[in-house]
Amino acid sequence: MKEELHAILKQAEEDLKRAQTFFDLNNLKSRFVGKKSVINQFMKRLGSLSPEERPAFGKQINDVKTKIESIIKATEERINSKLYEQSVKAASFDYTMPARPSEIGSLHPISIIQHQIEDVMISMGFQVAEGFDVEDEFHNFDALNTPKDHPARNLADTFFIEKDVLLRTQTSTVQIRVMENYKPPLKIISPGRCYRNDKFDQTHSPVFHQLEALVVDENISFKDLKETLNHFAVRMFGTSCKTRFRPHFFPFTEPSAEMDVSCFNCGGKGCSTCKNSGWIEIAGAGMVDPNVFDAIGIDSEKYTGFAFGCGIDRITMQKFCIPDIRFLFENDLRFLRQFNNFSDYNINR
Ligand code: PHE
Repeated sequence: MKEELHAILKQAEEDLKRAQTFFDLNNLKSRFVGKKSVINQFMKRLGSLSPEERPAFGKQINDVKTKIESIIKATEERINSKLYEQSVKAASFDYTMPARPSEIGSLHPISIIQHQIEDVMISMGFQVAEGFDVEDEFHNFDALNTPKDHPARNLADTFFIEKDVLLRTQTSTVQIRVMENYKPPLKIISPGRCYRNDKFDQTHSPVFHQLEALVVDENISFKDLKETLNHFAVRMFGTSCKTRFRPHFFPFTEPSAEMDVSCFNCGGKGCSTCKNSGWIEIAGAGMVDPNVFDAIGIDSEKYTGFAFGCGIDRITMQKFCIPDIRFLFENDLRFLRQFNNFSDYNINR
């Protein structure tokens, strides 16, 4: 019996040495010291021995059991530390490594210039009003005194979504929306997207950006319009910038004008940017036509007003020397990354 016990201990030692996982270990545990284990079989045999033999034999069984249990404990620790090592290896990384740089987005050049124009206008007391990209004929044409047979209403010029629903061709729609909802005195600007059925080429895009301005009050004159636009031009393009007003026609302003600024590429001498004229057109403007006031229910005897609309894309192209409007819409990252260093706060302040 002694030999048998010794053989069991030897076997347990060998098997436990080979155990690599807790699964192996649990199997061996129940095989050697569990309820149905060989050791337990020996315990059962104790009953058949004489009372004199029992204590010595019982002690031998217990000794072997204690030894096996201590080997089991050591094996458990060995497996545990091996698993820990493996998990550390799998998860190990260098905490001192610098993080991979993440790309931070920047403002689109159009947004940079739009914010700058807004700042200049807000500093003159204008409030920002929002309009809709999708409009009806009333706000885009009728209320703006545009005759039914005006060529702009043509499908070739305007994107119609369905009858009487269109993509606005100008931010002047917001003049009407504001006058419908608020009483004079009014002093608002409204930047936003406009849409025209134009080809996408170097100087045209079917989507473009305008910023509208509208002032309505008693005694507003053309002088106020000129002074506002002149101040706007100096703030946007610097004190050396000259302006000129050319007579023009818009259905909703009378008199109407277009404003040019001296070309900041050549300073007015003439270059390819200004097509050798020395001037660049940046805004349409005029005194609000009394017909517009009448259609919207504002007393045209008491109130006068001026409005202008400037092209944000064109001003952006001028300020950043961008030779082709398509750069502004194609979202090529190589182009856009060049504006990473421009925040709202570091140009022309
Ligand atoms: N809406 C005109 C255009 O798109 C510009 C304009 C605005 C003219 C306000 C006069 C007054 O060309």
